[in-house]
This record gives sequence, C-alpha cells and structure tokens, in this order.
Amino acid sequence: MCGIVGYLGNRNALGPVVDGLKALEYRGYDSAGIAYINGGDCRVIKKAGRVEALEKLVRKEKAVPKLALGHTRWATHGAPTTQNAHPHFNHDKTIMVVHNGIIENFQVIKDRLTELGYQFSTETDTEVIPHLIEYHYKQSGSFEAAFEKTIQELEGAFAIVAISSLAPGQLFAARLSSPLVLGVGEDEFILASDPSAIMEHTKKVIYLEDYELAIINHDSYKIRNFDRSADVKKTAEELDFDLELAQLGNFPNFMLKEIFEAPQTIKLATLGRIRPASGTVKLGGLVDVKEKLKLIERIIIVACGTSYYAGLVGEYLIEELAHIPVEVQLASEFKYRFEPFSPSTAVIAISQSGETADTIAALKKIEGRHMLRLGIVNAVGSTIARMTDAGVYCHAGPEQAVASTKAFIAQVCVLAEIGLHFGNGKMKDRKNFLRELDNLPKKAEAVLAQADKIRKIAEKYTHFQDFLYIGRRYGYPCALEGALKLKEITYIHAEGYAAGEMKHGPLAMIDKHFATFAIAADCPLIEKIYSNISEIKARGGPIVAVATEGNRQIKKMVDDVIYIPKTLEQLQPILVAIVIQLFAYYAAIKLGRNVDRPRNLAKSVTVE
Ligand code: AGP
Ligand code: GLU
Repeated sequence: MCGIVGYLGNRNALGPVVDGLKALEYRGYDSAGIAYINGGDCRVIKKAGRVEALEKLVRKEKAVPKLALGHTRWATHGAPTTQNAHPHFNHDKTIMVVHNGIIENFQVIKDRLTELGYQFSTETDTEVIPHLIEYHYKQSGSFEAAFEKTIQELEGAFAIVAISSLAPGQLFAARLSSPLVLGVGEDEFILASDPSAIMEHTKKVIYLEDYELAIINHDSYKIRNFDRSADVKKTAEELDFDLELAQLGNFPNFMLKEIFEAPQTIKLATLGRIRPASGTVKLGGLVDVKEKLKLIERIIIVACGTSYYAGLVGEYLIEELAHIPVEVQLASEFKYRFEPFSPSTAVIAISQSGETADTIAALKKIEGRHMLRLGIVNAVGSTIARMTDAGVYCHAGPEQAVASTKAFIAQVCVLAEIGLHFGNGKMKDRKNFLRELDNLPKKAEAVLAQADKIRKIAEKYTHFQDFLYIGRRYGYPCALEGALKLKEITYIHAEGYAAGEMKHGPLAMIDKHFATFAIAADCPLIEKIYSNISEIKARGGPIVAVATEGNRQIKKMVDDVIYIPKTLEQLQPILVAIVIQLFAYYAAIKLGRNVDRPRNLAKSVTVE
C-alpha cells in the first residue's frame, strides 16, 4: 500500500531515498519519513503530508550518510499524523524500521512487550517491530539473529526494511505478501517497493519472494528463507521497466496520459498474439499449460475494483467465444466462501498491480487444490504474476494514476484473446473478430479526438450530486466501471446498474436532480435501452448517452450524446471505456480534484 526505499552505498543516501519516495508516492501518500545512520547515531525525519514536505526538511540535513531508509505511508492503523508516520524506532533510537502492509498479531506482541516494560508512542501496528527486534537482540546479542527471529514471529502482510546503529553498515529487509525489490548497483544497493525507485540507478534487480529476508552489506548480500531458516541462492535479473514510460511527457497528469495511451495499449496487448489472416491467437504465457487448458469446464474470475469490472466483460466474452461457463467473483468475497471446487475449474486472477491483497488471498485459498491458476497482470514479476501457474501479461506499461484506465482496456483485450484461445476455433467468424481487434487502435484514436467535446459535456454535469450509470450485456460492466471512475476521482455519488433493473427500484430516485449516463452503443437490446431512457426522461431525469456513430434516434431522446465508431458488440467496452474515463476525468478537473491522487485511495491496495 505504501512506498519503501532503502539505500546502502558510497553516495549520499538521502538523495536516492527521497527521490525514490517521490517515484513511489503514487502507491500511498498520507505521510512520509526517512531515517539514516551517521557515525553511531540514528536520525529520523518524518512528516504528515506529501513527500515534498518531507523533502524540504531533508534538504537541510548537513550529514552525508551512506545508509538510509524511507517510507511513504497509507495508514491502516493509526491516523495519518507525523507521529504515526514511519520510520518507527525503539526507545533508544538504535533501531529504525519502515513497513508496508499489516501486522495482524501486533496487539498480542504489543501487550507482551508492554508487560516487559516496553513503551509505545504511536497508534500503529508497525511500532512493535523495532521493539521486538530490541527484545530479541538483548537475548542473542546478534542483530541478524534478532531481525530474523522478529520476522518469524510476525503474522500478516509485510515488506520491512530496518537499519540499526547496533549493526552499522548493514541494511535488513524481509517480505511476506507485500512487494520488495533489491537493486544491485555499482558499489551500492537500493531496496524499494517497486522498480520505479530503482531503475535510474540500476537495471539489475532481485525480486524478494514471500518468506525471504535480505541482509545487505556494503559489498555483498545474503538472502535467507526465514520460514525454513535457510540461505537462498538468488541472482539478479535484468529489469523489464522503462523509465520514460513512467514519466509524464507533455501531459498535465498521469491519468490523462494513460487515457491517451489507449491506442498503444490495445496494440501492446495484442502485439504478436493475434493473427487475423489465420484467425488464430498465440499466447506464449499459456504454452506450458496447454494440456491442462483442454480439461477446463468452468472458469472463476477473481479481481477487485476496475479489474473486477473487466472480469465481468470477460464473462460475456469467454462464454461467447469459448462456450465455457464463467463466474466473476470479488476477490474479497471469494476468499471467505465455502464453495465446492473441482480440478476442471480454472481461476483467473486479474490485477493491474499484481499486489492487491484481496486477490492474492483469493489465490492463496486455492493453493494445493490442483486447480489451474491463471493471471492477467500488468506488473511484470509481481506477486500475483508469480503465484499463478501461467498467465498473460497486459503489457500496458506502468499505470501511475490511482484511477485505473489503460489497464482496464488491456485487460479486456487479453480476456478476448483468452476467450479465443480457450475457444480453440469454436467461434465462427474469428478472422473478422481479430481483424476488428487489430483495427481498434485507430477507432480508439477517433474517440480520443472527441476529447474536447467530451470535456464540454462533462463540465455541464459537475453540479449533480448523484449519477446513475446504466447498460445492458457488454454495456453493464461499462456502467459499473463508469460509476467507479466518476466517484473515485470527482467524489460524486454514482451507481452502476443493469438497465433492466431500473424498474426494480432505482427509478424511484430519478428526478431533475439525478443525472443518468446511459451506455447505448448498438446492440441487440438497443430498443430496451431506449425504453429505459424514456422511463427516465418521463421523470425529468437528465441523460447523457454514449452511442454508436450514425444513431440519430438517440439524439432526440437524451440531453447529450457522445458517439463511438461502429465496432463489434464484444469490443465496444474498449471504446466505451475511453468515453467514460474522459467524462469522469474532465468532470474531476472542473471540480479541482487531484485526479492522480484522489483522497483516501492508494494505487495498490496491499492490505485486505
Ligand atoms: C480502479 O480505478 C481503482 N483504483 C481500484 O478499484 C483498482 O482497480 C483495484 O484496487 C484493483 O487493483 P489491481 O487491478 O491492481 O488488483
Ligand atoms: N500498517 C502500517 C501503518 O498503518 C503500514 C501501512 C502502509 O503500508 O503504509 O502504518
């Protein structure tokens, strides 16, 4: 949920740590802090608010430490105050710790240490870590042993980095369910939550796995499995991450940049995978499970948020393209269901970050059940990518804005490819489908060309406090996603609904103060959507609709229309998504919202 950076090398550690925190700030950002060791002293600087507030304080430091760590926080235990900001430390300030995730057994540990006379000064779960390390250090006299014993006692999800004046010149890290990457540079090491804080220094990285800890000295590192208390041999791999892709370019913010990447996103998600001439799809990531795929009779898709809505599009796609029953479940619910499974059921986890705790938990639930686990993930090498038996990467490049945009489009493209792959020739006009998918980037460009028109329409609707999004079939998941986009970046209340459900309740809310966004692209049920629109209009409800070019009738029925180029019904969500993203984006800008960093949210929700 948050960002962690650790540095040990021959440069001033404060630069790489603060710059690293800025690169990671999109992950969670309610407070930030750094700590460093200079000579025998540990020094801590922390501040509620954004990293730039912390940076101002750090720049005043005269010391030139070679060892430091830093943290941007997204609070789970304790308000986002300076006091509760990380790093946390023991009483003598000889041990400094930063942590990403949740220590689920922190209260038991805290109570035990309190009885032993330890005093706590924050509301966080994290604060038990430095005190517990001190406790074990007093028993063993070895910091390394104390760190490992502490980590072995912790339950929950964590990525932890620690430094101590009791172990000068060493950096300690441990990972369980929250990401941590070790960059191996020239005479320096950089630990971080993800490669964006490492790649300007080195492309040689080691992804720590669950139950692994690292002990880093100035010229070497050791990796141990703390579950088995055994050393682990790991060699660095070449980072697959492109810095300039992660930068803004000439866009005002990441969200608009990522919306405008839609054509490239479609291209990258299909590049080398679709062959319209032969009507075939080649998914290299599924080659190793080719035989197992033939035995699949049912698919469960698990995901959260926007990825869940992409999964709902995938339900229609895979059922139509492969004739396999699909059920989409919220990962947070899947984990706690008592559901019978069979080995002929495959589970597909969809996740942009590959680090979403609920989705990880869903996959953990079926470990050992001999069920095929597939991933549709954007972040290469992420936890979910490494937990699944096989998968198809989205290749959308880094998505930095908290509100997911291009990832949804990439996920739908991949789901269409997987549907054809599973279908193995069942779909009659595959060639036409793939030709249309191949053509879609140009049609996405045509939608983006209407950005200014969409802006003008969106700005007319920013005074509404309530919005209903409606759609049918492929338009229904788009309605849900449209509502999520609007609420998460404008903070306007919005609900997505199956249009057929209008009469079963929602219609009671409609009046001139309650606006509706109707997904009304051409489809076999368009007449029924017209009826829903008429029912809303009859009650004075304002309506903006997305429709297919050439549809003149809808213009007479609603207040505003945004047109998308004609395409197959199965591929409409990709073009409709651009419209609903731009609509929400321009409404949020008009309202003065921080579209990249909406309040209360984080890009990667690594706690349940
Ligand atoms: C989407 O705009 C939200 N930021 C959020 O719902 C997100 O889709 C969800 O947290 C799932 O994230 P993931 O795809 O990285 O697993
Ligand atoms: N649970 C810790 C806290 O609330 C860490 C949260 C985070 O991952 O930023 O401070």
